[in-house]
Amino acid sequence: MKLYMFPITRMRRLRSSKFRPLVRETGLDVKDLICPVFVDETITEPREISSMPGYFNIPPEMVADEARCISDLGIPALILFGVPREKDETGTHAYGEDDVIQNAVRAIRNENDDVVVITDLCLCEYTSHGHCGMVNHDTQEILNDPTLEILGKTAVSHARAGADIVAPSGMMDGMIQAIRNALDENGFINTPIMSYAAKYSSVFYGPFREAAKSGFSFGDRSSYQMDPGNSNEALREVELDIEEGADIIMIKPAVPYLDIIYRVKKRFKMPTAAYHVSGEYSMIKAAAANGWLDEKRAIMESLISIKRAGADMILTYFAKDVAKELGK
Ligand code: PBG
Repeated sequence: MKLYMFPITRMRRLRSSKFRPLVRETGLDVKDLICPVFVDETITEPREISSMPGYFNIPPEMVADEARCISDLGIPALILFGVPREKDETGTHAYGEDDVIQNAVRAIRNENDDVVVITDLCLCEYTSHGHCGMVNHDTQEILNDPTLEILGKTAVSHARAGADIVAPSGMMDGMIQAIRNALDENGFINTPIMSYAAKYSSVFYGPFREAAKSGFSFGDRSSYQMDPGNSNEALREVELDIEEGADIIMIKPAVPYLDIIYRVKKRFKMPTAAYHVSGEYSMIKAAAANGWLDEKRAIMESLISIKRAGADMILTYFAKDVAKELGK
């Protein structure tokens, strides 16, 4: 007696290990990866970030070698974050000619023309209060417009040092316009902007703040970063940044926001990046350290899901591990 009423559609036919590669819809390639690098002026030896096991802040003297190692693995780009020796109220060490990022970019550029150097463009690593903009301490407000000019100045200082792409991450309104104008006025018409366009106010940035020593002295970032409950708002943010001149747009974090990546890519068809953030790294590391998850497979599955959702490139702390794995 037959147990079924219709002929069976045999989806399993193509799932054999022999056919799988032929019918795989989404691939992960080393060329999709962007590797974050933390350059720290306060250290002389690499310092492991305790909430990011296996990830290190490196001293300025080591940054050129690190860039070489990244490009030798076939990773096309890195993104630089700076930890300055001194922080102050208005983040003046974000844009000095002889400050941490500017020196790091020059050190890489002096001996490596291939790797794409992206600079994170924000003030929170440079301000003593840890916020991404100027602050009115009486009202505890993060001031939008006074911050724009500083961001423009900082972008120009990065480009002057040799940065290939600037990546503003401070979620100030109008920042893309301000930065585009500043770059153009200074002759950097060909420096693209990768905008952290839809950046959520996320708990998953916690470990990064240890690395960048950018924990804030009061409040949180919810007055400028997005509410995790919103997705139509992400489309508006992205649309505005495109109108203002962004060349690449980014969604951040990645795995908890796959729906946003999907909607944004579908609607705007722009070069789209996703930031697999520090907390996403730490979760996998912690579970793997406990023997609860297979680390390699957890990494690969997370990154493939980000690609499947529509991202063209992924900023991830696993970039070097993945490059090694894919190169095998
Ligand atoms: C700076 C910035 C942050 C991250 C990237 N750029 C921190 C923040 O907004 O608090 C987070 C990256 C990560 O968690 O991996 N504004």
